[in-house]
Amino acid sequence: MKLLAQGAEAKIYVKGDIIIKDRVKKSYRLPEIDLKLRKSRTRAEARLISKATRAKVNVPQVLNANDKTMKLELEKIEGSKVRDVLTPDMCKLIGTQISKLHKASIVHGDLTTSNMMLRDGQVVLIDFGLSQYSERVEDKAVDLHLFKECLKSKHFDIWLSCWKNFLQNYTDKAVLKRLEAVERRGKYKH
Ligand SMILES: Nc1ncnc2c1ncn2[C@@H]1O[C@H](COP(=O)(O)OP(=O)(O)O)[C@@H](O)[C@H]1O
Ligand SMILES: [Mg+2]
Repeated sequence: MKLLAQGAEAKIYVKGDIIIKDRVKKSYRLPEIDLKLRKSRTRAEARLISKATRAKVNVPQVLNANDKTMKLELEKIEGSKVRDVLTPDMCKLIGTQISKLHKASIVHGDLTTSNMMLRDGQVVLIDFGLSQYSERVEDKAVDLHLFKECLKSKHFDIWLSCWKNFLQNYTDKAVLKRLEAVERRGKYKH
């Protein structure tokens, strides 16, 4: 087993063609709360990825979710991190995926190009660690706001054409309307 990545919440291991997401103990949390949180997040992540699968969103297959050991086993996506290979054209594919996800009442919660992979010309969404079930327009608008901010900061040279292409395939008008309000609020915060 090889350590692939170490995030804030989890260690990611590779074992052949399987990814193992192992939620690590946080010593700053009370032990009972820490255990509960890691268990519920492991369960929630598995549940939401499976829900996304049923909604025909491109996501890794959940192979096993063990809420005793808090290990989540996922299909390994062979491809590149979108962050490293993003093109404006690719943002149309991202628009389609996020549109389907939101239609299924799933808010990703961490929509950055580091949490997307490109495999065989298809965009696959990963990392549902901060995802939640939500039908709220506000939550979906915040999801888009995060993605737009990611484009502006990590892909500043192409961000505008990326965003325009994304909008071609993201179809929820109410969410886009709310995004304007989210952005206005953002401005007053800085
Ligand atoms: N199913 C997967 N297939 C391939 N790589 C993955 C997969 N899941 C995670 N990774 C890799 O591990 C990294 C961290 O995983 P992620 O689920 O995003 O955890 P974190 O919550 O730590 O960000 C990802 O950016 C990606 O490079
Ligand atoms: Mg991540």
